[in-house]
Amino acid sequence: MAAITHEEQFKKWDKEHKNPHVLPQMDKTKASSGVIKFLEWLKGQGKTPSALKGLEICCGKGRNVIGLAAEGVNMIGLDFSPNAIAEAKKRAKAAGVANKTQFFIQDVTKPFSVERGSLDFVYDCFGSTDIESAEGRKAALDNAIKALKPRGYLMVYLLSADDEFQKEMIAKSPGPDEGSFIHPKNGKYEKTFTENEVKDFYGQLKLQVFERIEKKDVFFGKEYDAHHIWAVFQKR
Ligand SMILES: C[S@@+](CC[C@H](N)C(=O)[O-])C[C@H]1O[C@@H](n2cnc3c(N)ncnc32)[C@H](O)[C@@H]1O
Repeated sequence: MAAITHEEQFKKWDKEHKNPHVLPQMDKTKASSGVIKFLEWLKGQGKTPSALKGLEICCGKGRNVIGLAAEGVNMIGLDFSPNAIAEAKKRAKAAGVANKTQFFIQDVTKPFSVERGSLDFVYDCFGSTDIESAEGRKAALDNAIKALKPRGYLMVYLLSADDEFQKEMIAKSPGPDEGSFIHPKNGKYEKTFTENEVKDFYGQLKLQVFERIEKKDVFFGKEYDAHHIWAVFQKR
């Protein structure tokens, strides 16, 4: 089974963000439906967007951060790719939300430069899927929890072990750990998760909602069935 170093994963991502040929979906500007669903869920809890401060780990070029800022939320986006962060800042300015957004180049497996206990929510939209080690994913989670206020929320939107395209990839090009693969076209690591794995991994938080998002994903011109995991946890 192939493995990949953190440095290799970083270089591949930074290159991908500079020249998005292999994963054009990562160049999208529309916020993910999973993130919009989370905002709706927060509103359902009686929260007012403009009173909230949130953070996205692994924010890429900022489509979700910008989308939530446009709804009034004060947002921070972190990504280790300088190319992604530079583009995110440009896009936030063009969208007229530069005053509601802050973007930082940050490896989320390293301590965040964000005040401890200061955030109402953190979310992970297919971010930790791309952290190539279990230790790295755990470090990112610990950092996110530290940044949350007591009773702050963590939303995760993740690839699942039942997703059709990813299952094919795991069979063709398995990665170093369970449910992972090395993308045959771009050489990047990706990890899928089972329901039990997610409930266990975030077990120190209180589970609020756990759902499957059934949709079609398009990869290389072909449609695949997706059964992504969407869950919200609360800091105790
Ligand atoms: C699949 S993309 C998702 C981007 C964004 N969340 C979205 O929904 O558009 C994964 C992102 O994780 C970032 N990433 C991977 N490992 C990281 C790490 N250790 N620290 C920070 N960012 C990381 C990549 O640069 C990439 O932007």
